[in-house]
Amino acid sequence: MKNLAGTWYNELGSRVELVIKPDGHIEGHYYTAVGGSSGEFHLSGQADVHSRHNSRSFGFVVAWTNSMVNEHSVTVWSGLYHHVGEEEVLSTTWLLTRETATAEQWTSTMIGTNTFRRTPPEQWTPLQTWKSEPMPSPVG
Ligand code: BTN
Repeated sequence: MKNLAGTWYNELGSRVELVIKPDGHIEGHYYTAVGGSSGEFHLSGQADVHSRHNSRSFGFVVAWTNSMVNEHSVTVWSGLYHHVGEEEVLSTTWLLTRETATAEQWTSTMIGTNTFRRTPPEQWTPLQTWKSEPMPSPVG
């Protein structure tokens, strides 16, 4: 089974720590580098129990409230654990909903993507999304 567990960082500098139970249940903590909130926020989610095509689908949710703050907002991430070249990557799409006044509700939900890797973004090199092929030998 592909291993989602452990610490990951996204391109914004946010950190996520995931614990994966044998039944695929996810528990962990999120530390966002942007937005209204700082500090540790609980997360929970679910991963597929068996991986397929060398990948594993999962989702998790953070309500942006802890003992210090309540941002009155929730983010859900849906994504895939997979490899790009040799590297483990989480490719995710998120929806962030903030509670707004009725007249502003049309602004309440944002969508975006986050890519998570095992190292902080300061250490990132471009993902190797293609494989170089040897030059074909000349014929004739
Ligand atoms: C808020 O500002 O309402 C709470 C913090 C939201 C942080 C968002 S969630 C999606 C994106 N990915 C991150 O790592 N942080 C931002």
